[in-house]
Amino acid sequence: MKILKSSFAVVERRAEHAVKFFYSHLFWHNPGVRALFPDSLHEMERQRDRLFAALTHVIAHLDDGTLRPYLHDLGRDHRKFLVRPEHYAAVGASLLAALAETSGAAWTPPVEKAWAEAYQVIADAMTAGAEGSEDPPWWDAEVVRHLQYGPDIGVLTLRPHLPFPYLPGQYTSVSSDRVPTTWRTYSIGNAPRPDGTVDLHVSRIDRGRLSTALVRETRPGEVLRLGAAGGQLVFRREDRPVSLIAAGTGWAPIRAMLEDLAERPPDQDVRLFVVARDGAHLYDRPLIDAYAARCGWLAVTYITPAPGRHRNQATDRLATALGHRGMWPDQDVYLSGPPQFVDETAHLLQQLGARPGRLFHDAVPARGPEPGDRPLGFGEWFLNPPAPHWHNPSARAPRSY
Ligand SMILES: Cc1cc2nc3c(=O)[nH]c(=O)nc-3n(C[C@H](O)[C@H](O)[C@H](O)COP(=O)(O)OP(=O)(O)OC[C@H]3O[C@@H](n4cnc5c(N)ncnc54)[C@H](O)[C@@H]3O)c2cc1C
Ligand code: HEM
Repeated sequence: MKILKSSFAVVERRAEHAVKFFYSHLFWHNPGVRALFPDSLHEMERQRDRLFAALTHVIAHLDDGTLRPYLHDLGRDHRKFLVRPEHYAAVGASLLAALAETSGAAWTPPVEKAWAEAYQVIADAMTAGAEGSEDPPWWDAEVVRHLQYGPDIGVLTLRPHLPFPYLPGQYTSVSSDRVPTTWRTYSIGNAPRPDGTVDLHVSRIDRGRLSTALVRETRPGEVLRLGAAGGQLVFRREDRPVSLIAAGTGWAPIRAMLEDLAERPPDQDVRLFVVARDGAHLYDRPLIDAYAARCGWLAVTYITPAPGRHRNQATDRLATALGHRGMWPDQDVYLSGPPQFVDETAHLLQQLGARPGRLFHDAVPARGPEPGDRPLGFGEWFLNPPAPHWHNPSARAPRSY
């Protein structure tokens, strides 16, 4: 364990070189494997990051109990990438070759043995997860409705061909033949329905590959692929008051939870904070108002900046609104929105006394896009987002395809 961590520290310093060597080695010795990965260079860069993030995670958790379920799910989910059991040996050989090449003199027989054993543990757990799963590798799901709100938002209703299990608040991964070998994560925007359909709320990202295909091109009758649902943003029915905070397409999982709560009302009060960059862009406001009128346990606060205010004042306005409501130490807080928003709001809430163990959100990617790709701070996102995250159904009737 110790030997692995210190060896990884050596590799991490030359991570860029290690991952390049790894993929060159893998594709040179196994040309057929190249087709499993995205063809664009940009995508491969991202995949490199994921590989190292996964390796770091695995090494950090090698001796705790959380690793096995993670690897089981990862192996189960790798079936949707068309990964077969025999690929694990090929990846293992290339990984060891890359580590040896990167470590130089630090690559000793005990180090090599420790890595080989650790990889085998990981590969065995992943293949066991793949072989033991009763789920299909993916769910084919037909697009039955596409509502378009302005140029950059689409709400897609899908009908999976097989029952698709999930909990309100969870997300799924999505792939389309229009963008082969590309999978992205989207929250499911509804509680389970009797007809089994699921809604995805997609904001188109400028130059975004899948979001553009989903919002601008995908039409009813097409079939998408869904990966198994996942994520920790599921409602815990604890004996505590609850705050739900949603921004951008982060509204989708909060809406799913709210639909579920409306069906099975909670014993505690629920405060819903809906953050939008301006009043005209309050997504789903008619629906939220209807819930507020119907559900005595629900109090809704809309947070929008005053028109023309400086962007920093928008951040202040959120801080003020959250500060005024108070009682954060008592609350279970569910937080959903763009990564910077989640990061900064979680920080703010902790300053206001919210307990970290009662603050629930999906993992915020450790590394966002490069500077210049999109605004970095919450204030910047809030007033000057790179692409619309909200739409206003009441301002313009959605177009239906
Ligand atoms: C847990 C989770 C849940 C999510 N739920 C939703 C959801 O319900 N609805 C939804 O629309 N999206 C959601 N996303 C984001 C989604 O997974 C994709 O990242 C997004 O649609 C962009 O994918 P793409 O293929 O279009 O863009 P890519 O081709 O991956 O990216 C194109 C360019 O845009 C940059 N970029 C990527 N993401 C963003 C962003 N958010 N803002 C600005 N620039 C960006 C990239 O760095 C790249 O330069 C969720 C993400 C996570 C992790
Ligand atoms: C054994 C250890 C392995 C680990 C820890 C690992 C880890 C990961 C992780 C964390 C992801 C990102 C998952 C996601 O975004 O949903 C991923 C994606 C992927 N993995 Fe693996 N993986 C392993 C083995 C393999 C093997 C044997 C193959 C087969 C060649 C493989 C092929 C892929 C592909 C094709 C993707 C998708 C690439 C993309 O979307 O950019 N992996 N892997």
